[in-house]
Amino acid sequence: MNLTELNKVATAMVTPGKGILAADESSGTIRKRFDAIGVESTEENRRDYREMLFRAKDAMSRYISGVILYDETIWQNAKDGTPLVKLIEQAGAIPGIKVDEGTQALPMCPGETVTVGLDRLAERLKKYYERGARFAKWRAVIDIGSGIPSMTAISVNAHALARYAALCQAAQIVPIVEPEVLMDGDHDIERCYEVTQRVLNKTFQELRVQRVALEGMVLKPNMAISGKKCAKQASVEEVAEKTIRLLKACVPAAVPGIAFLSGGQSDEEATAHLNAMHKLGPLPWGLTFSYGRALQAAPQKAWSGRPENVAAGQRAFSHRARMNGLASRGEWQSSLEQKAA
Ligand code: 13P
Repeated sequence: MNLTELNKVATAMVTPGKGILAADESSGTIRKRFDAIGVESTEENRRDYREMLFRAKDAMSRYISGVILYDETIWQNAKDGTPLVKLIEQAGAIPGIKVDEGTQALPMCPGETVTVGLDRLAERLKKYYERGARFAKWRAVIDIGSGIPSMTAISVNAHALARYAALCQAAQIVPIVEPEVLMDGDHDIERCYEVTQRVLNKTFQELRVQRVALEGMVLKPNMAISGKKCAKQASVEEVAEKTIRLLKACVPAAVPGIAFLSGGQSDEEATAHLNAMHKLGPLPWGLTFSYGRALQAAPQKAWSGRPENVAAGQRAFSHRARMNGLASRGEWQSSLEQKAA
Protein backbone atom coordinates (compact mmCIF):
# COMPACT_ATOMS: atom_id res chain seq x y z
CA MET A 1 0.00 0.00 0.00
CA ASN A 2 1.26 3.46 -0.94
CA LEU A 3 -0.38 5.76 1.61
CA THR A 4 0.99 8.98 0.07
CA GLU A 5 -0.74 8.11 -3.19
CA LEU A 6 -3.99 7.14 -1.44
CA ASN A 7 -3.92 10.42 0.46
CA LYS A 8 -3.39 12.35 -2.77
CA VAL A 9 -6.46 10.77 -4.36
CA ALA A 10 -8.60 11.25 -1.22
CA THR A 11 -7.57 14.90 -1.04
CA ALA A 12 -8.35 15.42 -4.74
CA MET A 13 -11.83 13.96 -4.18
CA VAL A 14 -12.64 16.82 -1.81
CA THR A 15 -10.94 19.67 -3.71
CA PRO A 16 -12.62 22.94 -2.62
CA GLY A 17 -15.24 23.91 -5.21
CA LYS A 18 -15.71 20.33 -6.36
CA GLY A 19 -17.58 17.24 -5.20
CA ILE A 20 -18.56 13.74 -6.18
CA LEU A 21 -21.31 12.65 -8.57
CA ALA A 22 -22.92 9.46 -7.23
CA ALA A 23 -24.09 7.81 -10.46
CA ASP A 24 -23.88 4.30 -9.03
CA GLU A 25 -27.58 3.44 -8.84
CA SER A 26 -28.06 -0.33 -8.84
CA SER A 27 -30.28 -1.81 -11.57
CA GLY A 28 -33.28 -1.72 -9.24
CA THR A 29 -32.76 1.89 -8.20
CA ILE A 30 -32.15 3.27 -11.70
CA ARG A 31 -35.32 1.46 -12.83
CA LYS A 32 -37.25 3.38 -10.16
CA ARG A 33 -35.73 6.68 -11.33
CA PHE A 34 -36.48 5.91 -14.98
CA ASP A 35 -40.04 4.82 -14.13
CA ALA A 36 -40.60 8.29 -12.67
CA ILE A 37 -39.70 9.93 -16.02
CA GLY A 38 -41.38 7.31 -18.19
CA VAL A 39 -38.18 5.80 -19.60
CA GLU A 40 -37.66 2.08 -20.02
CA SER A 41 -34.61 0.85 -18.10
CA THR A 42 -32.68 -0.86 -20.88
CA GLU A 43 -28.90 -1.20 -20.94
CA GLU A 44 -28.74 1.27 -23.84
CA ASN A 45 -30.92 3.88 -22.12
CA ARG A 46 -28.86 3.63 -18.95
CA ARG A 47 -25.72 4.12 -21.03
CA ASP A 48 -27.15 7.06 -22.98
CA TYR A 49 -28.28 8.76 -19.79
CA ARG A 50 -24.94 8.43 -18.05
CA GLU A 51 -23.02 9.35 -21.19
CA MET A 52 -25.05 12.57 -21.27
CA LEU A 53 -23.87 13.43 -17.74
CA PHE A 54 -20.21 12.52 -18.29
CA ARG A 55 -20.10 14.56 -21.51
CA ALA A 56 -21.32 17.71 -19.73
CA LYS A 57 -17.80 19.06 -20.05
CA ASP A 58 -18.23 22.33 -18.17
CA ALA A 59 -19.89 20.75 -15.13
CA MET A 60 -17.57 17.77 -15.05
CA SER A 61 -14.31 19.68 -15.36
CA ARG A 62 -15.18 22.55 -13.03
CA TYR A 63 -17.34 21.07 -10.29
CA ILE A 64 -16.97 17.28 -10.25
CA SER A 65 -13.91 15.68 -8.63
CA GLY A 66 -15.01 12.07 -9.05
CA VAL A 67 -17.84 9.85 -10.26
CA ILE A 68 -19.10 6.71 -8.52
CA LEU A 69 -20.07 4.08 -11.09
CA TYR A 70 -22.09 0.88 -10.90
CA ASP A 71 -20.48 -2.35 -12.15
CA GLU A 72 -22.43 -2.30 -15.44
CA THR A 73 -21.33 1.28 -16.22
CA ILE A 74 -17.61 0.83 -15.59
CA TRP A 75 -17.49 -1.74 -18.42
CA GLN A 76 -19.69 0.24 -20.84
CA ASN A 77 -18.60 2.26 -23.86
CA ALA A 78 -20.11 5.50 -25.13
CA LYS A 79 -22.04 5.42 -28.41
CA ASP A 80 -18.82 6.18 -30.32
CA GLY A 81 -16.96 3.32 -28.61
CA THR A 82 -15.00 5.38 -26.04
CA PRO A 83 -15.10 3.71 -22.61
CA LEU A 84 -17.26 5.78 -20.24
CA VAL A 85 -14.36 5.66 -17.78
CA LYS A 86 -12.24 7.53 -20.35
CA LEU A 87 -14.87 10.27 -20.70
CA ILE A 88 -14.65 10.83 -16.96
CA GLU A 89 -10.86 10.89 -16.98
CA GLN A 90 -10.79 13.24 -19.99
CA ALA A 91 -12.95 15.68 -18.03
CA GLY A 92 -10.33 15.63 -15.26
CA ALA A 93 -12.46 13.65 -12.81
CA ILE A 94 -11.58 10.42 -11.00
CA PRO A 95 -13.55 7.23 -11.72
CA GLY A 96 -14.84 5.30 -8.69
CA ILE A 97 -16.87 2.14 -8.23
CA LYS A 98 -19.63 0.95 -5.91
CA VAL A 99 -18.53 -2.46 -4.68
CA ASP A 100 -21.10 -3.51 -2.09
CA GLU A 101 -23.75 -5.97 -3.26
CA GLY A 102 -26.68 -4.44 -1.41
CA THR A 103 -28.32 -5.35 1.86
CA GLN A 104 -29.72 -8.57 3.35
CA ALA A 105 -32.06 -9.06 6.29
CA LEU A 106 -30.09 -9.33 9.54
CA PRO A 107 -31.05 -12.51 11.41
CA MET A 108 -32.68 -12.00 14.85
CA CYS A 109 -32.96 -8.27 14.18
CA PRO A 110 -36.40 -7.59 12.65
CA GLY A 111 -36.43 -4.64 10.24
CA GLU A 112 -32.64 -4.34 10.09
CA THR A 113 -30.10 -5.19 7.41
CA VAL A 114 -26.43 -5.85 6.86
CA THR A 115 -24.57 -4.88 3.69
CA VAL A 116 -22.96 -7.80 1.86
CA GLY A 117 -20.29 -8.28 -0.83
CA LEU A 118 -17.02 -9.06 0.94
CA ASP A 119 -16.54 -12.49 -0.65
CA ARG A 120 -14.10 -12.25 -3.57
CA LEU A 121 -13.89 -8.47 -3.11
CA ALA A 122 -10.08 -8.55 -3.32
CA GLU A 123 -10.22 -10.04 -6.85
CA ARG A 124 -12.93 -7.63 -7.97
CA LEU A 125 -10.95 -4.62 -6.71
CA LYS A 126 -7.98 -5.70 -8.78
CA LYS A 127 -10.08 -5.70 -11.97
CA TYR A 128 -11.64 -2.35 -11.14
CA TYR A 129 -8.21 -0.82 -10.54
CA GLU A 130 -7.01 -2.07 -13.94
CA ARG A 131 -10.09 -0.49 -15.52
CA GLY A 132 -9.22 2.89 -13.93
CA ALA A 133 -11.10 3.04 -10.61
CA ARG A 134 -9.11 4.89 -7.96
CA PHE A 135 -11.75 4.91 -5.26
CA ALA A 136 -14.66 2.73 -4.19
CA LYS A 137 -17.86 2.97 -2.19
CA TRP A 138 -19.63 0.69 0.29
CA ARG A 139 -22.94 1.77 1.82
CA ALA A 140 -24.23 0.49 5.15
CA VAL A 141 -27.85 1.32 5.97
CA ILE A 142 -29.07 2.09 9.48
CA ASP A 143 -32.78 2.71 9.96
CA ILE A 144 -34.29 4.65 12.86
CA GLY A 145 -37.57 3.34 14.29
CA SER A 146 -39.16 2.10 17.44
CA GLY A 147 -36.52 -0.04 19.16
CA ILE A 148 -34.02 0.27 16.30
CA PRO A 149 -31.20 0.54 15.46
CA SER A 150 -29.91 -2.31 17.59
CA MET A 151 -26.26 -2.34 18.65
CA THR A 152 -26.08 -5.60 16.65
CA ALA A 153 -26.91 -3.84 13.37
CA ILE A 154 -24.52 -0.98 14.09
CA SER A 155 -21.75 -3.37 15.02
CA VAL A 156 -21.97 -5.82 12.09
CA ASN A 157 -22.29 -3.00 9.56
CA ALA A 158 -19.28 -1.16 11.03
CA HIS A 159 -17.29 -4.37 10.93
CA ALA A 160 -18.13 -4.94 7.25
CA LEU A 161 -17.30 -1.32 6.38
CA ALA A 162 -13.87 -1.71 7.95
CA ARG A 163 -13.28 -5.08 6.23
CA TYR A 164 -14.11 -3.42 2.92
CA ALA A 165 -11.96 -0.35 3.63
CA ALA A 166 -8.91 -2.43 4.51
CA LEU A 167 -9.28 -4.52 1.33
CA CYS A 168 -9.55 -1.33 -0.76
CA GLN A 169 -6.39 0.19 0.67
CA ALA A 170 -4.51 -3.06 0.13
CA ALA A 171 -5.60 -2.79 -3.55
CA GLN A 172 -4.45 0.87 -3.73
CA ILE A 173 -8.06 2.12 -3.92
CA VAL A 174 -9.42 4.88 -1.66
CA PRO A 175 -12.47 3.62 0.26
CA ILE A 176 -15.49 5.86 0.64
CA VAL A 177 -16.88 4.67 3.96
CA GLU A 178 -20.64 5.28 3.94
CA PRO A 179 -22.63 4.50 7.06
CA GLU A 180 -26.02 6.00 6.10
CA VAL A 181 -28.52 6.70 8.85
CA LEU A 182 -31.79 7.03 6.93
CA MET A 183 -33.90 10.18 7.18
CA ASP A 184 -37.13 8.22 6.62
CA GLY A 185 -39.39 8.24 9.66
CA ASP A 186 -40.81 10.75 12.10
CA HIS A 187 -37.84 11.06 14.48
CA ASP A 188 -36.51 14.51 15.34
CA ILE A 189 -33.03 15.90 14.69
CA GLU A 190 -31.88 15.09 18.24
CA ARG A 191 -32.57 11.40 17.68
CA CYS A 192 -30.77 11.48 14.32
CA TYR A 193 -27.81 13.14 16.06
CA GLU A 194 -27.69 10.54 18.81
CA VAL A 195 -27.95 7.53 16.45
CA THR A 196 -25.43 8.95 13.95
CA GLN A 197 -23.00 9.58 16.79
CA ARG A 198 -23.21 5.93 17.89
CA VAL A 199 -22.81 4.76 14.29
CA LEU A 200 -19.78 6.97 13.56
CA ASN A 201 -18.05 6.09 16.81
CA LYS A 202 -18.49 2.37 16.18
CA THR A 203 -17.36 2.75 12.58
CA PHE A 204 -14.13 4.55 13.51
CA GLN A 205 -13.49 2.04 16.29
CA GLU A 206 -13.67 -0.80 13.72
CA LEU A 207 -11.54 1.10 11.22
CA ARG A 208 -8.83 1.41 13.86
CA VAL A 209 -9.09 -2.24 14.93
CA GLN A 210 -8.69 -3.32 11.31
CA ARG A 211 -5.73 -0.97 10.73
CA VAL A 212 -7.34 1.21 8.09
CA ALA A 213 -5.23 4.34 7.42
CA LEU A 214 -7.53 7.27 8.08
CA GLU A 215 -5.37 9.47 5.82
CA GLY A 216 -6.36 7.32 2.86
CA MET A 217 -10.16 7.32 3.10
CA VAL A 218 -13.18 9.54 2.61
CA LEU A 219 -16.22 9.46 4.91
CA LYS A 220 -19.69 9.70 3.35
CA PRO A 221 -22.15 10.39 6.16
CA ASN A 222 -25.71 11.62 6.45
CA MET A 223 -26.28 15.04 7.94
CA ALA A 224 -27.85 15.51 11.39
CA ILE A 225 -31.35 16.22 10.12
CA SER A 226 -35.03 15.82 11.05
CA GLY A 227 -36.83 12.69 9.85
CA LYS A 228 -38.85 13.36 6.70
CA LYS A 229 -42.12 12.78 8.54
CA CYS A 230 -41.18 14.69 11.69
CA ALA A 231 -43.68 17.47 12.43
CA LYS A 232 -40.90 19.80 13.53
CA GLN A 233 -38.35 20.34 10.75
CA ALA A 234 -35.01 21.78 11.88
CA SER A 235 -33.85 24.97 10.13
CA VAL A 236 -30.90 25.11 7.72
CA GLU A 237 -28.79 26.78 10.43
CA GLU A 238 -29.64 24.10 12.99
CA VAL A 239 -28.82 21.25 10.58
CA ALA A 240 -25.47 22.89 9.76
CA GLU A 241 -24.58 23.63 13.38
CA LYS A 242 -25.52 20.16 14.68
CA THR A 243 -23.87 18.32 11.79
CA ILE A 244 -20.57 20.15 12.25
CA ARG A 245 -20.68 19.63 16.02
CA LEU A 246 -21.34 15.91 15.48
CA LEU A 247 -18.60 15.45 12.89
CA LYS A 248 -16.04 17.34 14.97
CA ALA A 249 -16.84 15.04 17.89
CA CYS A 250 -16.58 11.81 15.87
CA VAL A 251 -14.29 12.22 12.84
CA PRO A 252 -10.52 12.48 13.42
CA ALA A 253 -8.72 15.31 11.63
CA ALA A 254 -6.50 12.70 9.93
CA VAL A 255 -9.44 11.94 7.60
CA PRO A 256 -8.80 14.12 4.50
CA GLY A 257 -12.40 14.52 3.50
CA ILE A 258 -16.09 14.17 4.20
CA ALA A 259 -18.58 14.03 1.32
CA PHE A 260 -22.27 13.96 2.21
CA LEU A 261 -25.03 11.86 0.70
CA SER A 262 -28.27 13.75 -0.03
CA GLY A 263 -30.51 11.00 1.30
CA GLY A 264 -33.83 12.34 0.04
CA GLN A 265 -33.37 16.05 0.80
CA SER A 266 -34.67 18.39 -1.90
CA ASP A 267 -32.05 19.66 -4.35
CA GLU A 268 -31.96 23.09 -2.82
CA GLU A 269 -31.96 21.89 0.81
CA ALA A 270 -28.94 19.67 0.14
CA THR A 271 -27.11 22.67 -1.34
CA ALA A 272 -28.18 25.12 1.39
CA HIS A 273 -27.10 22.75 4.19
CA LEU A 274 -23.62 22.23 2.76
CA ASN A 275 -23.24 25.96 2.18
CA ALA A 276 -24.30 26.82 5.75
CA MET A 277 -21.74 24.38 7.17
CA HIS A 278 -18.95 26.23 5.40
CA LYS A 279 -20.04 29.43 7.15
CA LEU A 280 -18.98 27.70 10.40
CA GLY A 281 -15.36 27.16 9.35
CA PRO A 282 -12.47 26.71 9.47
CA LEU A 283 -13.01 22.94 9.37
CA PRO A 284 -10.44 20.20 10.03
CA TRP A 285 -11.31 18.17 6.88
CA GLY A 286 -12.40 18.90 3.31
CA LEU A 287 -16.20 19.01 3.29
CA THR A 288 -18.25 18.55 0.14
CA PHE A 289 -21.06 16.67 -1.60
CA SER A 290 -21.36 13.14 -2.96
CA TYR A 291 -24.92 13.49 -4.13
CA GLY A 292 -27.01 11.11 -6.19
CA ARG A 293 -30.58 12.32 -6.22
CA ALA A 294 -29.79 15.99 -5.42
CA LEU A 295 -27.57 16.20 -8.53
CA GLN A 296 -29.60 14.04 -10.88
CA ALA A 297 -33.30 14.62 -10.24
CA ALA A 298 -33.30 17.80 -12.38
CA PRO A 299 -31.31 16.41 -15.35
CA GLN A 300 -33.39 13.21 -15.36
CA LYS A 301 -36.57 15.25 -15.65
CA ALA A 302 -35.15 17.54 -18.33
CA TRP A 303 -33.86 14.60 -20.38
CA SER A 304 -36.84 12.25 -20.07
CA GLY A 305 -35.20 9.77 -22.41
CA ARG A 306 -35.35 11.98 -25.53
CA PRO A 307 -32.19 12.55 -27.63
CA GLU A 308 -33.40 16.07 -28.46
CA ASN A 309 -33.32 16.87 -24.71
CA VAL A 310 -29.66 16.01 -24.15
CA ALA A 311 -28.55 19.66 -24.10
CA ALA A 312 -31.33 20.56 -21.66
CA GLY A 313 -30.38 17.62 -19.44
CA GLN A 314 -26.75 18.73 -19.43
CA ARG A 315 -27.77 22.30 -18.59
CA ALA A 316 -29.83 21.08 -15.63
CA PHE A 317 -26.93 18.94 -14.42
CA SER A 318 -24.44 21.78 -14.86
CA HIS A 319 -26.62 24.09 -12.84
CA ARG A 320 -26.89 21.72 -9.86
CA ALA A 321 -23.18 20.88 -10.07
CA ARG A 322 -22.32 24.59 -10.04
CA MET A 323 -24.67 25.35 -7.13
CA ASN A 324 -23.13 22.54 -5.07
CA GLY A 325 -19.62 23.53 -6.13
CA LEU A 326 -20.29 27.02 -4.78
CA ALA A 327 -21.80 25.54 -1.60
CA SER A 328 -18.63 23.53 -1.04
CA ARG A 329 -16.87 26.89 -0.59
CA GLY A 330 -19.71 28.59 1.29
CA GLU A 331 -20.28 30.88 -1.70
CA TRP A 332 -23.83 29.82 -2.67
CA GLN A 333 -26.87 32.11 -2.37
CA SER A 334 -30.49 31.16 -2.96
CA SER A 335 -30.83 34.10 -5.37
CA LEU A 336 -28.54 32.20 -7.78
CA GLU A 337 -31.23 29.51 -8.00
CA GLN A 338 -33.95 32.00 -8.89
CA LYS A 339 -31.81 33.61 -11.55
CA ALA A 340 -31.34 30.26 -13.25
CA ALA A 341 -35.08 29.51 -13.10
P1 13P B 1 -28.26 10.21 -2.55
O1 13P B 1 -27.51 11.51 -2.62
O2 13P B 1 -29.39 10.12 -3.54
O3 13P B 1 -28.65 9.84 -1.15
O4 13P B 1 -27.26 9.10 -3.06
C1 13P B 1 -25.95 9.12 -2.64
C2 13P B 1 -25.45 7.75 -2.52
O5 13P B 1 -24.50 7.38 -3.15
C3 13P B 1 -26.14 6.85 -1.59
O6 13P B 1 -25.41 5.68 -1.43
